Amino acid sequence: MPALNRSQTRIFLVVFVLFAISISQAIWAASSSHENEAVGVAAWEQVYSVLVSPRCINCHTATNYPQQGDDRHRHFANAVRGPDGIGVPGLTCFSCHQDRNADSTGVPGGSNWHLAPLSMQWQDINDRPLSSAAVCRALTDRSKNHNMDGAALLKHHSEEALVLWAWNPGLRPDGSARTLPPMSHEDFVAATRTWVGAGTPCPRGK
Ligand code: HEC
Ligand code: HEC
Repeated sequence: MPALNRSQTRIFLVVFVLFAISISQAIWAASSSHENEAVGVAAWEQVYSVLVSPRCINCHTATNYPQQGDDRHRHFANAVRGPDGIGVPGLTCFSCHQDRNADSTGVPGGSNWHLAPLSMQWQDINDRPLSSAAVCRALTDRSKNHNMDGAALLKHHSEEALVLWAWNPGLRPDGSARTLPPMSHEDFVAATRTWVGAGTPCPRGK
């Protein structure tokens, strides 16, 4: 092979340098998106720990009834879901639940108190919480979540009355205070923001 003349060498060097730059950029992008995903999944695990806590999951059931208490037992008085999650004529949720907590009687309350639709169930029909990966998939499936994108989920977690209720859940009928989710509302919103910022990644697996 004849030796390269000077201008050929220069072209070769330029091409080589451009090639090296693009390779290193690709590696950097791949590793930083990987890092971003790891940060997002870690934030999701925090979000998940709140979703499956009793104050939230008691309304996100897979059955025809809401649940009560930290042991998530079936709602008393045979309160049932009904076709729209608001109970049945004669025994709607609103016959007992008002738009605020009634601490004198121990009936919790919040704006438009009713069960989440079955598409938003976070437990199985035996009342066992679904896995983190399964809840994440359901939450990010726009055919199941009333077409919410990441921004809408963040808004829901920041402002929705029934979400806010979980941090102000009032007194039980025996006068003791209901327990709170495992972190503050502020930290929950911050974790949701990090997860949404990372593109709502879900953990792998079932
Ligand atoms: C007959 C009155 C009555 C009806 C009807 C009723 N509830 Fe309740 N509900 C109560 C009372 C009282 C409590 C508090 C029980 C306790 O804390 O031990 C309660 C508690 C709850 C809780 C538990 C909160 C928690 O985290 O512990 C949820 C969730 C709930 N109701 C949802 C519903 C939904 C949804 C409907 C309609 C499908 C409904 N309820 C219908 C009276 C009623
Ligand atoms: C009193 C019942 C009730 C409680 C308590 C409740 N939710 Fe819900 N949740 C609902 C209902 C009803 C909907 C459906 C709203 C709609 O029609 O769009 C819903 C929808 C959602 C959605 C929409 C997306 C989806 O796929 O599920 C999210 C996210 C959510 N709730 C989060 C929470 C969190 C977090 C908590 C606790 C901090 C909570 N909810 C507590 C009733 C409840």
